[in-house]
Amino acid sequence: MKTVALIVAAGRGERFGGDIPKQFRLVHDRPLLSWTIQQFQQATLVDEIVPVVAEEFLLFANEQVVNPYSFTKVREIVRGGDTREESAFNGLKSLPISCGYVAIHDGARPIVDPVDIDRVIETAQRDRAAVLARPATDTVKRVEGDYILATLDRSKIYLAETPQVFQYDLIMSAHSKFKGSISVTDDAAMVEQLGFKVRTVIPERPNIKVTTEDDLKLVRGILAETFRTTF
Ligand code: C5P
Repeated sequence: MKTVALIVAAGRGERFGGDIPKQFRLVHDRPLLSWTIQQFQQATLVDEIVPVVAEEFLLFANEQVVNPYSFTKVREIVRGGDTREESAFNGLKSLPISCGYVAIHDGARPIVDPVDIDRVIETAQRDRAAVLARPATDTVKRVEGDYILATLDRSKIYLAETPQVFQYDLIMSAHSKFKGSISVTDDAAMVEQLGFKVRTVIPERPNIKVTTEDDLKLVRGILAETFRTTF
């Protein structure tokens, strides 16, 4: 049974600003998304990779992000949708029913460690659903306006990252059932709504989601270190 990595990268990057969406910004002369794909190319338990990009970037993704880097696992590039949820669903629908597990990952997380990818896939292959989630190290407050309403019990707060890995049938049922009807910012939330228990796996390495220019600088430094190259 195959495990496919679905890398959602169809955001238009309004928060980041600038003309080029963040996933295509150059990091050491390569589009950021190509670094993300590289991590999945290196993960042992990933059989195939399907990047999901906005329609206007399909050609660019093919010519500038995938082809130059000999990613042997890339199966095809799929067109995204108007929301992250729609992009993930488009990717899911493109996969054959013979697909066993799907690892859904944010294209904007280029430094995810291949060992962490394998660890979360391994857990999902045992328990059907698992996500990388990191215990909070800051104290978390519920805020309204500029005022704190409550302080949450930090020992129970984890920050959900990606990849989030699910048995294909399970995540397809969740997306089909809740399509457009609930507002969620990750895929696990839909599986939770189905009443299913999702396992957490604590990452051993950093897994920054690039949201600001400063994040880009951090990622640049970490990638230089990881790939032991002088840039
Ligand atoms: O907006 P946010 O940073 O949470 O997006 C997470 C990931 O979802 C990004 O990699 C982004 O490109 C992707 N996305 C998508 N389709 C959209 C919106 C976001 O694939 N319509």
